[in-house]
Amino acid sequence: MKKRLIVGNWKSYPATLTEAKKIFEKLKNRVGKSQNVQFRLAVPHPYLHPLGGGKKKGKIQLGVQDVSFASGGAHTGEVAASMSDSVGATFSIIGHSERRAQGEGNDIVNKKVLAALASGLDVVLCIGEVTRDPEGAYLGFVRDELESAFQGILPRDLSKIVIAYEPVFAIGKSAAEAMSGEGVQEMVIFIRKLLTEKFNRSRADSMPILYGGSVDESNAKNIYTVGMVDGFLLGRASLDPDTVQRIVKLTA
Ligand code: PGA
Repeated sequence: MKKRLIVGNWKSYPATLTEAKKIFEKLKNRVGKSQNVQFRLAVPHPYLHPLGGGKKKGKIQLGVQDVSFASGGAHTGEVAASMSDSVGATFSIIGHSERRAQGEGNDIVNKKVLAALASGLDVVLCIGEVTRDPEGAYLGFVRDELESAFQGILPRDLSKIVIAYEPVFAIGKSAAEAMSGEGVQEMVIFIRKLLTEKFNRSRADSMPILYGGSVDESNAKNIYTVGMVDGFLLGRASLDPDTVQRIVKLTA
């Protein structure tokens, strides 16, 4: 059985390192020992080293929410994947819709996936339609995101990639506005079909697919069981250790 995976995305929270340390300590106590669910956490860059002590093997594996497309150089404000790797990151989220909304296109997402892999980071690749249309053009949108992100990826790197399906309209809403388990299931089947076409059945089946978008303890069970996902990408909920603990338990 594939190990279940829950990834937390702190986004641009909390406001201070002191607060971050408090939440992280609680998270380690609540979810650090779960046997069959792995919890990984993407934190803001300045918190990475202070929380993880620069190591990769803590109770909770830490990651970042983005990497630069470049491996270094005159790129003011960019953080290269190797830099995050060197202070303890084990993965990066890439292509989150909040970055795509800043103008990050499919070509840049692809460069970032390649840059992260080249530096030894695992990748949580976010894909998902912005809106739905009755004609089903949104399926083509998701297909384009997926196919372009995988350009130039070597088969041996596939085991380092996790897909996070996040319909943009369901992010940051109430739990009732998350996608239904049935809706998630449809998209998981669609994404596995695309992966099978691109690679092969066994590679497609072994790639974890997470759902993200307003998951909390009230909808996690339905989305997990009906949606046929391998876990979740949690935004807001990841800042609340009690909620994370309950979602981990539900998933386990
Ligand atoms: P949310 O965020 O759980 O707060 O909706 C999910 C995400 O943006 O990854």
